[in-house]
Order: sequence, then structure tokens, then C-alpha cells
Amino acid sequence: MEKSITVLPGDGIGPEVTEAAVKVLQAIAKHYNHTFHLQYALIGGAAIDACENPLPAETISKCSQSDAILLGAVGGPKWDQNPSHLRPEKGLLAIRKHFGLYANIRPVKAIPALLDASPLKKEVAENVDMVIVRELTGGLYFSEPRKKSKDSALDTLVYTRAEIERIVDTAFQIARSRRGKLASVDKANVLDTSKLWREIVEEKKQGYPDVEVEHMLVDSTAMKLITKPADFDVIVTENMFGDILSDEASVITGSLGMLPSASTREDGFGLYEPVHGSAPDIAGQNKANPAATILSVAMMLREAFQMETEAAAVEEAVFNVLNDGNFTSDLQVKGKRALSTTEWTAKVLEELDAEFVSDSIMFS
Ligand code: NAD
Ligand code: IPM
Ligand code: MN
Repeated sequence: MEKSITVLPGDGIGPEVTEAAVKVLQAIAKHYNHTFHLQYALIGGAAIDACENPLPAETISKCSQSDAILLGAVGGPKWDQNPSHLRPEKGLLAIRKHFGLYANIRPVKAIPALLDASPLKKEVAENVDMVIVRELTGGLYFSEPRKKSKDSALDTLVYTRAEIERIVDTAFQIARSRRGKLASVDKANVLDTSKLWREIVEEKKQGYPDVEVEHMLVDSTAMKLITKPADFDVIVTENMFGDILSDEASVITGSLGMLPSASTREDGFGLYEPVHGSAPDIAGQNKANPAATILSVAMMLREAFQMETEAAAVEEAVFNVLNDGNFTSDLQVKGKRALSTTEWTAKVLEELDAEFVSDSIMFS
């Protein structure tokens, strides 16, 4: 198959983790006889530095002509004092909005090899297998008006029925393809947007009799994510709650550097991006864990290109490398030398080569 992908490395560790993920894409292309046309474009701080715009028109145009987008991360201290329209994060929010990528899918799965890296007890973290479905183009992040003066500031939280209905439908569909359990997370004891959210989930559930729905408040959900994370199957929630809960859930897996995500819409077009940020504290040191971005590539192969075999091969390579005791420093096990980003990526590539050789033998 022939596919075109726009790569947006961004800032901080973004270029390091996307470089790793691109190597994986190239290995998949080679082994499975695909052609991936890769083109690079600017976003975030890198784009602000080059052309004073966190999302240049050229980037939008390149992305519009591709089949999928791969993003590293944006942001960093260099731009933290910039006015809000010249912040790197603005570029990320704008690209999500521009392409209507309202559904952010964030799978969180415990990996046996990493149970010791999790701050949670083994018996709490094991068997965790959930998907957080985060609404991505509405709510506090985008609603108007918003303003700030020296003495007051205003943000607005609006959700329309249509925005809630589509993300709730996405979550019900994902739930029915899994264990059939949906936790809808809100703050309906305080917020009107949450009351509307709850009403719509109640209406929608009539259409999904095979899915068991529970309404949960976001504060106690934050607690339950740490005390009984294995109870969750699919969580659906609004933009800001989903942002916070997904970083919290990442620690179950051992590191924020493990969590991939897909930001998509109905037709499957999407931005594939790790959940983590630009990690300025380790940027430029060849230390970042590239697993989240590599696993985002697996999501791209599966969701955007319907390449299930290839996606599974990437996931298997990542899990095998971890099972063999290879870790970057964020997952470091005491007394063991941590691998650099490039060393760890090389292990994944070796693993992919080995998998491919054994597949060819099996099927020849
Ligand atoms: P962060 O996710 O960048 O880092 C949080 C902590 O996790 C840091 O200690 C970091 O070293 C560690 N970490 C994150 N990813 C890692 C990886 N792949 N391997 C190893 N360790 C990893 O969050 P932050 O420090 O709050 O934010 C830094 C900047 O990133 C800010 O400018 C923020 O706005 C931006 N940000 C961007 C995105 C994005 O582009 N999607 C997401 C979150 C934050
Ligand atoms: C994420 C990030 C972004 C968000 C920021 C950088 C705008 O934290 O992708 O989770 O809040 O959505
Ligand atoms: Mn976040």
C-alpha cells in the first residue's frame, strides 16, 4: 500500500521520539512492502521560531494532503512567557480543531514486564486494560469568551448537544468492541455542562443495550483510578477531565512515556501523538522513552491504514523488548543500566527484523 504521512516533530523530546517512530515506520514499509511518503512540517515552538506562528499555513496544507499525521510534542520554557497566541500549545490545539479531531483515544494497559516500575502495588496495577475516550475539540479549551486582565480572568465552558453526542457514540462503540463497560465521568453535582452530558449518555444508552453504563464524578474517579484501576474498561469524559485523568492513569503503566494516543474523527483521519509533552528536563539528552510514539504509530497503522498485522507486529516488538528487560531511564529498574532512546529503538528494530524472519519462515 502507498500512504503519505506528515511528521510534526515539534519541541523538546519531540524530534527524538518521532525519529525513533519514523525508523519503525520505515522498517514496517520494508518488511511488508508498503511505501510511506514522509514529509516533515513545523509546529509549536519550532514553528514560532521559524515564522512566528505555532501552526503555519504550510503545515496545515501538508497535513491536508496526507493520510495521517504523526506528532512528537510541543512546548518548553523558552516560550512560556509568550502571549497566548504565540504559545506552542496553541499550535497543537489549532491543528486538532482545524481537522475536527474530536475523539482522543488513549489506551492504558499494564505490561507485565513493567509492573515493578509502577508506583502502585503489583496486585493493583496488574490486569489494567482501559481506554480513555477524551473529548478533544470543545469545553474549557476552546469556548469563548476568554480574556485576562491584571485583576481578573475569564474562561468559558460550553458543550453543545452535538459535541457530546458524537464523542459518547464513539465511546459506546469502543465499549461494545471490548468488555462492554462504560464509565461516563463528569461533575454533574456542580456543572451544567456535566448535567447535559449525563442526560445525553442516558439517552444514548438505549441504543447500546449491550453496554453497561456507570456515571461517575471526576473527583472520585481520580481516586478509583489509583485504588481499583483494573475495574475500568472504557472511560468517556470531557476535554479537561480527560487530560488530567490520562496523565494520572499513565503512572499505572510505569511511565508517561508509555502512553500512545490517536486524535481522530468519524472517517478515521487523525493525528497520532504520545500523551506526554516535550519533557524539557530530559530533552536533547537521548534519554526519552520513545515507546509512546512508537505505539502511536501502531495505532496509526491499525486505525488510519487498516494494517492490523503490521500494527500488531509493532506492539509485539515493543513488548518483547520490554520483556527482555530493556528499559529507558524513566522505567529504570535498580541496578540495571538504562538504555538511551536510540539504543532502545535499535532493540525494537532488531525485534521487528526477527519477527519478520520468523513470519516468512512460517508462511513460506
Ligand atoms: P511532560 O509530559 O513533558 O513531562 C512530565 C514528566 O514526564 C517529566 O518529568 C518528563 O521528563 C517525563 N516524561 C514525559 N515524557 C517522557 C518520555 N517519553 N520519556 C521519559 N520521560 C518522559 O509534561 P510537562 O513537564 O508538564 O510539560 C512540558 C511541556 O510540554 C509544556 O510546555 C507543556 O505545555 C508541553 N506539553 C505538550 C504536550 C503535547 O505536545 N502533546 C503534552 C503535554 C505537555
Ligand atoms: C495533551 C497536552 C495538551 C492538552 C496541551 C499541550 C495543550 O497536555 O495532549 O494532553 O492539554 O491537550
Ligand atoms: Mn495532557
